[in-house]
Amino acid sequence: MCIFSVETSCDDTCFTVYNFKNGVLFEKIYKQSYIHNKFKGVVPNIALSEHKLGIQLLYTQLGLCDYRICYVAYTQGPGLSGSLFMGVSFAKAFTYFLNVKSVNVNHLEGHLLSIFLTFRFLMFPYIALLISGGHTFIIYVHCMGKYVILGMSLDDSVGESFDKVACYLGLGYPGGPLLEYNLLEDNGTYCNLRLPRPMFTDNSFNFSYSGIKTNIRNYCRYKKEVCVSKVSLEFHKVVFDTITNKVLLALRYTNVKNLVVVGGVAANFFICSRISYILRERNISVFSPVVKYCTDNAAMVALTGYIKVSQYKTIDLSYVINHSSDMNLYEI
Ligand code: KG4
Ligand code: ZN
Repeated sequence: MCIFSVETSCDDTCFTVYNFKNGVLFEKIYKQSYIHNKFKGVVPNIALSEHKLGIQLLYTQLGLCDYRICYVAYTQGPGLSGSLFMGVSFAKAFTYFLNVKSVNVNHLEGHLLSIFLTFRFLMFPYIALLISGGHTFIIYVHCMGKYVILGMSLDDSVGESFDKVACYLGLGYPGGPLLEYNLLEDNGTYCNLRLPRPMFTDNSFNFSYSGIKTNIRNYCRYKKEVCVSKVSLEFHKVVFDTITNKVLLALRYTNVKNLVVVGGVAANFFICSRISYILRERNISVFSPVVKYCTDNAAMVALTGYIKVSQYKTIDLSYVINHSSDMNLYEI
């Protein structure tokens, strides 16, 4: 049984054909960052029309006769509404064309379960640190389908902060990889930037990044010469400190021994390797997906769709286009 999946929640158009036995059989991404880069962030209207182009392009590359597709999985939300609309519309039409069934997937659940694309036999429960462009969550994953939010960012997400800081430093979009790359480009300029660690000592599992971001914006505005690598290093250190502090708190509170780091920012080697190092000393195992499955991808949508169909037997029988998210996340 093959499952076809489409993911269009933000600025990448992704197609996958997935089979549980053999894994990913077809995988293509149409990246839009080249165009959003000019605007230093995602422009929703452009993203919508680029998805149209992306879907047309990827569809011509998909050899339909090569697979026996039984389900179409698609990202229902959360995400940019125009982008989601394109993906959902295509998925519904494609389902009708193939005369199969479709399954709607929550983008965040996709990220949470993306770890199983890399580690098939990971044990529940685990604490998931979901750090993407749109969200920053600490989630207790009891088992498939049972997720409890322990904490979240009260303002900007980590990925969004990476993007904005990169923008203040005159780098492009997406900011995360560019900032990480610039860690190495030290031009020797003195840097007296000292950043706060908001919410460090409160006993919640929540984060706040907007103050840090504003600090960097003011620093860049009033300083004549800014050393990009040193600002980037300071920012990376803050992200690492704040994340590790709250993750340790959550692991202690729940007494769970596995940490899973997912979402676009999990692709950051500086942060993830340090988290692994610190937690290994405390006998906690840290897992993150291979880089291509940290950022948005359709394989996680296919896998989540497959799990929904095979375990909870939920399929989406309607052809009505609805792109509100529907995952049950319980807050404590
Ligand atoms: O998960 P994702 O692809 O999309 C959302 O669901 O939002 O995450 C995108 C975010 C962007 O903010 C991007 O700057 C960030 O992930 N990102 C990174 C890295 N690669 C992508 N942040 C830090 N370091 C990276 N290497
Ligand atoms: Zn995502």
